[in-house]
Order: sequence, then C-alpha cells, then structure tokens
Amino acid sequence: MKQISIFLPILILAAAACSRPSVSTTGSTPEVEARVSRLLSQMTLAEKIGQMNQISVGGSVSDYAEAVRNGQVGSILNEVDPEKINAFQRLAVEESRLGIPLLVGRDVIHGFHTVFPIPLGLASTFDPALVEKGARIAALEATAQGVRWTFSPMLDIARDPRWGRIAEGSGEDTFLDARMGEAMVRGYQGEVLDTTSMAACIKHFVGYGAAEGGRDYNSTFLTERQLRNVYLPPFEAAVKAGAMTLMTSFNDNDGVPSTGNAFVLDEVLRREWGFDGLVVTDWNSMGEMIVHGFGTDRKDVAEKAVKAGVDMDMMTYGFVSHLEELVRSGAVREADVDRAVRNILRVKVLLGLFEHPYVDVEAAKAVQYAPAHLEAARTAAQESAVLLANDGTLPLREGLRILVTGPLADAPHDQLGTWAFDGEKNHTITPLAALRDRFPGQVTYVPGLRYSREHRDRFDDVTAAARRSDVVLAFLGEEAILSGEAHSLADLNLKGSQSDLLAALHSTGKPVVAVVMAGRPLTVERDLPHCNALLYSFHPGTMGGPALADLLSGDVNPSGKTPVTFLRTVGQAPLYYNHNRTGRPYNRETMLDDIGLEAGQTSLGNTSYYLDYGAYPLFPFGYGLSYTEFTYSDIALDKEIYGPEETLDISLTLRNTGSRDGTEVVQVYVRDLVGSVTRPVRELKHFERVPLKAGESRPLRIRIPVRELAFWGLDGTWKVEPGDFQLWVAGDSASGEPVSFKVN
Ligand code: BGC
Repeated sequence: MKQISIFLPILILAAAACSRPSVSTTGSTPEVEARVSRLLSQMTLAEKIGQMNQISVGGSVSDYAEAVRNGQVGSILNEVDPEKINAFQRLAVEESRLGIPLLVGRDVIHGFHTVFPIPLGLASTFDPALVEKGARIAALEATAQGVRWTFSPMLDIARDPRWGRIAEGSGEDTFLDARMGEAMVRGYQGEVLDTTSMAACIKHFVGYGAAEGGRDYNSTFLTERQLRNVYLPPFEAAVKAGAMTLMTSFNDNDGVPSTGNAFVLDEVLRREWGFDGLVVTDWNSMGEMIVHGFGTDRKDVAEKAVKAGVDMDMMTYGFVSHLEELVRSGAVREADVDRAVRNILRVKVLLGLFEHPYVDVEAAKAVQYAPAHLEAARTAAQESAVLLANDGTLPLREGLRILVTGPLADAPHDQLGTWAFDGEKNHTITPLAALRDRFPGQVTYVPGLRYSREHRDRFDDVTAAARRSDVVLAFLGEEAILSGEAHSLADLNLKGSQSDLLAALHSTGKPVVAVVMAGRPLTVERDLPHCNALLYSFHPGTMGGPALADLLSGDVNPSGKTPVTFLRTVGQAPLYYNHNRTGRPYNRETMLDDIGLEAGQTSLGNTSYYLDYGAYPLFPFGYGLSYTEFTYSDIALDKEIYGPEETLDISLTLRNTGSRDGTEVVQVYVRDLVGSVTRPVRELKHFERVPLKAGESRPLRIRIPVRELAFWGLDGTWKVEPGDFQLWVAGDSASGEPVSFKVN
C-alpha cells in the first residue's frame, strides 16, 4: 500500500506523457529542436517575453524601431509593404542582440491581391483541390511581399446565419469544414516548407461560431460532447495536416474564455493531439478576459493565459508588461515561458526566416495578379455559385436584349466580400463589365439601386428598360460590409428596397434572373415568386464578373452546392441538417390556419416544428441545381455487416440524363440508428465532384472506413458503436433512399 502511494503519481505522469503523440505535428526535426534550444539558452528572460509579443504596426517603421531592436517584439501584423517589412526585418535581424527575425502576420483570408470567393463560397465548391490551389496562390502573392503568416483558415462551424462571420468559414458541417481546412493549410504552407510557405493559423479555438443568437463575440454553452463531435474535429484534421499555428477565440464557453481555457488549449490541443505549433490569442482577447470578468487586471489575465497554454499575445501587451514580474515572483514558472518561446522559434526556424528574412521588392510585383491566379479565381467563382431555382430561363439564349440592374451589378468593392484587406477594386471585374464583354451590344444597364441598403419608392426607369428588353438580370445581395466580424444581423431579408425592385421587374412580365451576391445565406423565400431563376453567388471576388457571365451564358454549367442550410425565415435559426433525432420527429403539419377558433388545448402536430413556418428550410444543406440532371441508381454496399476496422465499399451508377455536360457533387450521408447517446439524423461522410458528359453514365465506387463513423459517446471515448446504420448517396442532404448495414 505504502509503495503504491509513492509511485502512483509517477505512474500517472508517465501515462500522461505516453499518451501524448511523440511525432511533431509541425514537422520539426531534432536539428530544428537543437537550434531552438541553442537560441533559447542565449536569451534573457526579457528577450524571451519579447518573442511572445505581437503588435499591429501602422505608420512609420521608426515608431517601432526601439522595441524591435530591444527584442521586445516577436511578431508584427498589418504591414504588407515589402520595403517596410524588409526594414522591420533589418531591425530585428541586424540590430537586435540575437538577430531573431520577426514573424509577419496578416489576415489573408480568401486571397491576397487576387481575391477568391469568400470562404463560405469556397466551401460551396465542394472542391478541396481547388481551394488548396487558391490558398497556394494567396501564399505566393503574400509571401512575395514578406507576409509569412496568415490568420486563416477559420474553422468555426456556423449554424446561425445571423452571425456575420459565417462568411469566413465553411458553413455548418464538420466533415466539409475539416476537408476545406486541411486543403487551406496545405495550400498556404506548401508541400515543402520554403520561402513561399505562409504559416496557417487555424481559428478561432473554439466554439466561436456558436455565439448565442448569432451575436458576434457572444457566449457559447457547448458541452464536451458537442465540442468533440462537432466543433473540434476540423481543428484536429488541420493539426494533422500540419497547421503551424492556432488562434484562441473571443467567446467564453460555459463561463471559461478560450484564451484562458486549459482544457482545450492544453489537454486537448497539446496533450491529445500533440500540437507543437504556436498558439496566439485573438486581438486583445487576453485583455478582454478582464471585461468578461474572468480576471482582475492585465497581470492576472496574462498569468491565466500563459498557464492555460497561450504562447503569443496579440495586442493586449499583457506578457511584455507583466510576465517578467510574474516569473520573478514565482507565480509563473520560467518553464512555461520557455515552452511558449520554443513554439514560436520553432515556427520561425521551420519557415526558414533566419536564412531568408528579406524579400525582393521588384520580384514581388510580378507575382501579384498573375494570369494563372486570375484564372484560378475565376474557376473558383464559377464553382462556388449555387443555382437555387431555374424554370429554364437560364442559361440565357443567344441574341437576347439584356437589362442588367441591381446594386451589385457594378460594385467592384462589394463583390470582394469581407476580409479582403489587400484586394483592390480597380482590379475587380464586375458582372456588368463581363456581360458587356460576353454579349456585345446587347446589354443595357440601369442600376435601380445604388447600394444594397438604399430605399426607393418607384422604379419607373428600371421597369421601362425591362419592357424594352428580353430578359432581366438583377444583381442583388449585401454590400461587403454587411457580413464579417462584428456584422451580425437580426433580419436576413434582402436589405433596402431590393425585394421591391425585384417585384417591380417581375410585374413587367419579362423573365427575371436574380443573382444574389452575399456574405451569408439570406432569407429569399419572399423573392422567389418574383424571379424565374436564382443564382446564389456568395461574394465571388476579383473574377466574380467573368465567372457569373460564364454561368449565366451557359458557357459553364453551375455545380456549387449549399454549404449551409438556407432558412425560410430568420426565426428558424439555428436550423441545420445534421441535428439530433428528437423524441417527436416532425412528420406532419398542422399549420397556424388549421387551428379552429377557441380550439381546446391540444398538442396539435405533436412534433418538433413551427406552426407558422413548418419544419423544413427553404433549401437544405448540399443543395444545388445544374443545367442538366443527374440520376443515382444501383446504390449498393459490398456487405451487410462490417467489423470496426473494415471499409464500406459503396457502388452506384451516376447518370447525366440531360443534354449538357455538367458536374455533380455526389454526397454520402450516414445515420447511426441507436447509440449510447442520440445521434444526428444524417452526417456527411464523403463527397466528390463527378464531371459527366451529356448522356454519360458512370459507375462509381466510394470507400469509407468504418472508423469514420466514430463519435464521442456516453463513456467519454471516441469509438464506433456496434449496431444498425443507414446510408444515403444523393445530391443533397434531404434526398435519396436509405441503404441499411450493420457494424459489429
Ligand atoms: C479577428 C481575427 C483576426 C484578428 C487579426 C480579430 O479581430 O477576430 O479573426 O485574425 O482580428 O486581424
């Protein structure tokens, strides 16, 4: 007994150490570690703490010269001028005692100069290879100017379109988000680390997208099971893909702000996943722990953050101001500081910053807006647009007189979307310009509304022009500034008089095509009766105009699918396809008008839905039309019963039954019928884009390892529970017939 009590703690420590994966997630090597150790051993405590400090720089380099020279800054953000970046690096490398280069960060979120569709649009391509290419291009352009760290990808699952930051992520689904996140990490960092590698920063860790009511910065109340099953997997996938850095989030989850949350930062991220990259706070999120009421002052929150596992402070100045004192007083161990500095230096060494701190200013210019970059951005914008409705008006027939109207038809700034800091509107090609080019002499332009929020009572000029045309193209949506950080909305209808404009156009009797360019899925149900076709393009970026002209003309067939559920009305939020099954699943509708006067108290429909809006969304997750049609047949599994280590082998035939070539996004969903906890009604487990010629039919084989069906069950472990399952192969999350199988 005595012996056990002495050895037990040691055994537990040993077990904890063993459970930590020993392979470096960032790809560090013993040589890199040795170099980091050598540097660390030469550093004073103040120099170490300086590395943990990130500052935003604006104005002239000389304003920061002393701090950089004195080793009080490890990283800067928001400088993109290559000459200034070189000047900053010169101060750090040539004038500071140890010559440690700066890590230069920037929010390169969906392209640098060449702006790609917003991330939500990129997600609707369901094309990770293209998304990876876009991230590579962003890295080529940004690193050429000296930016070696981007605060992207944002992996926050967003199930509430009121949240403005839904624009910045991949939508509501864990699986899709994970695939897009990995692709971006690979693209930013490159296959091998070299001077074109830009360290990815996966953010915001964690749960930020679940902000109450979609109000940005709000609290979240996610259980460990929700975190494990829904919110954490994209981060884990991105860590496995080699993401070098991670950012904490602003929100408190169940009362604990992320920047002080040792459970997620230390236990999960470091110990379980073995992450050896750098953890940075979000902008002043350390300081905001005081505002949250989680710490008394900057010193207190600095202590809490470093102990929880934060390595670098973005803009609180908490570490530079108080960490030395905290270490000297014994409140914080120097070992914690060393850990943080190691994580920072490791990234700097891996990026090759010591060897290549400077950039070639002239060469940098040639890389921006390269033709191949613009071409990839155009392809991305083509693939990201989702055709939500079409009565055959699209594609446009040749020779028509076209009226182009609407506030987004010629809005070069707005079509770039949120977080396009380095995008330049004079490089944007708008739909108006592209359509004039594609249909010379056929286009008339009457804006109708100058910007998306504008109010107007009459549209006589537009309707008169519509009457003189054969078809109307109305470009509606949101200005860029209406989505993104701190831009939550409580009403998701088209703003200003846009719906009135559409109704007026419709009243002319001419066919009307609505093209919506927005940062989120707006509630367009009331607009559907007023248009013959609806093409939903999230803000499509620099090449949005040509891409939309390609789609409207039929030169390219739409193939995007919704990465998020489209609501009928905002009151349905949050509504997402992979919800748990309730005890009273929706099955029939007694609607408001069916209720008699003075009806006695009953449970009416007896199921889970709204009396006024039912249970269904306007468009489900994974939905999108094409100019052709696809049919799925012969869907079969190779077996009925699988072991946990086996692989589902699914076969099917996909046919393009129409007369145009097209691409279908084939989706596989699975449902675990009975679990130790209730499971979602469907979960995406596979998707792939399949191009098919008109009339072509192709047999497909899809393999899904059974272990992909694992979840965090009641016993707090991650495993596949034996039992009955169903599987759907379909073109969206609400279609298809289930195929049954078992896992034993
Ligand atoms: C945002 C982050 C961003 C950071 C740096 C914060 O306000 O939440 O996503 O990376 O600013 O610009």
